[in-house]
Amino acid sequence: MKKSYLLRLIKYLFFTLLFPFTSLFTHAVEFEVGRTPPTKNNLTSLGSGLAMSKGYYRGSPIGELSGWTLSLWFEAKSDKKGDLFGIVRNENNGEAYRLTYENGTLSFGDPKQKNRPWKLMVKGVEKEKWNHLVISYAQATGPAIYLNAEKMAQGGRGQMGYATKFDHYHFGAAVHGKGKYGDYFDGKIDDFELHNRPFDQEEVQKLNHGTSFEGSLMAFNDFENVNHRDLAYFNSAKPDDDYLEAGRKLYLQNCTACHSIDGVAPPINPLARMFIKHKMENGGDPYSMFKTLTYGFRNMMPSVQLNPTDRYKVIHYLREKIIKEKSPELYVKFDQSATYKMPKSPDTTGNEAERIEELARQGYLRDYGKALISPVVGNAKSNNALTIDLGQKVTISYDLGTMRTIGAWTGGFLDFSGTLHHRLRAAHGHHLLAVAENLRRRHEGKGNKGKGSSAFSSETSRETGY
Ligand code: HEC
Repeated sequence: MKKSYLLRLIKYLFFTLLFPFTSLFTHAVEFEVGRTPPTKNNLTSLGSGLAMSKGYYRGSPIGELSGWTLSLWFEAKSDKKGDLFGIVRNENNGEAYRLTYENGTLSFGDPKQKNRPWKLMVKGVEKEKWNHLVISYAQATGPAIYLNAEKMAQGGRGQMGYATKFDHYHFGAAVHGKGKYGDYFDGKIDDFELHNRPFDQEEVQKLNHGTSFEGSLMAFNDFENVNHRDLAYFNSAKPDDDYLEAGRKLYLQNCTACHSIDGVAPPINPLARMFIKHKMENGGDPYSMFKTLTYGFRNMMPSVQLNPTDRYKVIHYLREKIIKEKSPELYVKFDQSATYKMPKSPDTTGNEAERIEELARQGYLRDYGKALISPVVGNAKSNNALTIDLGQKVTISYDLGTMRTIGAWTGGFLDFSGTLHHRLRAAHGHHLLAVAENLRRRHEGKGNKGKGSSAFSSETSRETGY
């Protein structure tokens, strides 16, 4: 009795207070097929993963860097003016270092600088083609811009001051003022890296060829890199019961906080889909559902705590055991031949594969340890963020209001010392899930010694299901 009252209270708090945050941004980020990594040692690299397209995406704050190198890939679709990247200095006045594309020309500069506005130009950028852009900054020489590993422009000494604050940097749009976004980039952005030192020409060339520089890597975003070809197809002629059983378990652990256990009962979260009644609006084939789980969809938050293989296990379980069996008319057929066009991750060859493996070894794409729901104060500014430690070194953070990533970074979980002043504070009353969980724990007699912060473990989500 008491338990169900508590659960209802938790749900009430969650849906009345948390979900209204979801309309903060007008442009949601979309994803398209990403860049295919370059051929290495005469071996073709397959697969391209996903790239960000449209919308605005904010990187995780990492503090000040006195020298740095930024690397990203982009493909412009039209001549339309739009910002690829920006480092905001003063949000209220829209003061920022802006990297803008327009009509085949890139410019990088500080247009609102009062004393000495400056701008570096790179002409002749080809449209509808992936281009590699590097900006490398050293105080002594100023910013240097490389396009496809060729040096195109050089700024002046000290142009960006003693250090650059990477606390509010973003992709895909310009920040014109507090909460005001515009100049959306019409194209795709992929494989972002930020290093904590300047690179020379030779190193830029290596970056261009896919060499990884782990020692200096501060932040990255490769927008997924998964072997979809192998994972997306489920052979129903040879159903693998163990596989589906694994999917069922993952479903119970990770999804039933909001969706109903059997897909037949009404969902616990009234906003959540009823899998046997409603068509998947974001697409019901495995790949589309993968995107729903990876990037979220409207009020559905991303399920990044699952590695890609597990995401597909849940998807196949949902499709084969819930939708197909209980509501065959909603089952979206998916032929194996459809996978031939899908991104395939470069399996055992080349540096790219090594890099992915290394990430996996570090925990990225695999198990997750710590997870924390709390407001982020200071530079990250989120009333309600879910921060997950994906391994010893890699962390990803979501704004639960917008259900979108604030960013992913390497180097530690929260509160990293020195220049990395990303800070999380768990203040009372602001983080509903944590509060809700405290209530439940207390009720269950486990006690909770934490100061309002709390781990969002799979165990607790399991308990939330009916
Ligand atoms: C925190 C609550 C929550 C959790 C946990 C959750 N979902 Fe959802 N899910 C939602 C909501 C809300 C929607 C409805 C999204 C909308 O249309 O705004 C949704 C929608 C969906 C959709 C349909 C999207 C579409 O195309 O219409 C799928 C598929 C889905 N969820 C799968 C899952 C799976 C699989 C899991 C577990 C790994 C999961 N969800 C966990 C809240 C949740």
